[in-house]
Amino acid sequence: MLDFTGKKVVVTGGGVGIGRAIVEAFHAAGAKVLTIEHIADRASALRAENPEIIVIDGDVTCENDLQSLTNAVAAEFGALDVLVNNVGDFLVIGPFEAMSAADMDRVLSTNLGQAMRVTQMMLPALKRSGAGSSVISISSIEAFRGVPNCVAYGAAKAGLTGFTMSLSLELAPLGIRVNCIAPETTDTPQLAIDYVIPPKNRANMDKWIPLGRFGKPEDCAGAALYLASDLAGWVTGTTLHVDGGALAAAGWTRTPDGQWTNTPLVSGNAIELPGA
Ligand SMILES: NC(=O)c1ccc[n+]([C@@H]2O[C@H](COP(=O)([O-])OP(=O)(O)OC[C@H]3O[C@@H](n4cnc5c(N)ncnc54)[C@H](O)[C@@H]3O)[C@@H](O)[C@H]2O)c1
Repeated sequence: MLDFTGKKVVVTGGGVGIGRAIVEAFHAAGAKVLTIEHIADRASALRAENPEIIVIDGDVTCENDLQSLTNAVAAEFGALDVLVNNVGDFLVIGPFEAMSAADMDRVLSTNLGQAMRVTQMMLPALKRSGAGSSVISISSIEAFRGVPNCVAYGAAKAGLTGFTMSLSLELAPLGIRVNCIAPETTDTPQLAIDYVIPPKNRANMDKWIPLGRFGKPEDCAGAALYLASDLAGWVTGTTLHVDGGALAAAGWTRTPDGQWTNTPLVSGNAIELPGA
């Protein structure tokens, strides 16, 4: 178990899902945790369940709310050891050609712009902690492969990779590390497996995720603890792929008889595996 006793951690979007698991993991490891959450019910539920966690009501895409976050961090923490930019959402699904300019701005701001702005606002507090502090952004496997009908989301998440690599260089002389975590499908309210994956496809899941299951929010929380810890003291400007091997597999799937293929059969709307 990693020990974060006395460390101060900010996680954006800690109400549910991956952000919630990261909040709870740092808290369990002894850290003081502050989160900003834009859905009031989620914020009050977290507050009620764990009064030790500081929960700010606010939207990270809103400049006024970012100022409130900055003020709260200054008042509660002074110095900051870990920032986790967790907020992100594909928001809109459909062909790029039909996407409105307003939707494009919203997706870019929710998945890239706000993470850059939050990081910028938190930098003075991170610099107060200095060497050993770190920034972690929750990216996606979609930053590393194409994602049809979510083109702006894929572009924004790929932008997080560039942001992370470039900022890691600027902050390396201070000993502040900057990294990403890139999950594949993880069971959260945003991507509730029971709801978004039809049962027939779910049954084949072990054929295309090499480790044989979808992600749990705790998988990303474990990666965040590692990246924030001294164990990752020489790790910066990079991405930890928390994806059950999905990126490594790319288009390869397992056949029912345990072989591998990159030429699955298609019938109707469903992908069928040879011999299935
Ligand atoms: N779930 C997945 O399969 C998956 C896969 C790849 C990447 N990701 C990334 O992981 C991160 C977390 O995803 P999740 O599935 O846990 O999402 P989620 O929607 O289940 O949870 C996100 C949390 O952030 C809050 N939030 C959203 N927008 C906000 C804003 N503007 N200001 C403040 N709070 C806000 C939500 O209310 C919620 O509590 C995102 O960056 C997402 O892109 C998720």
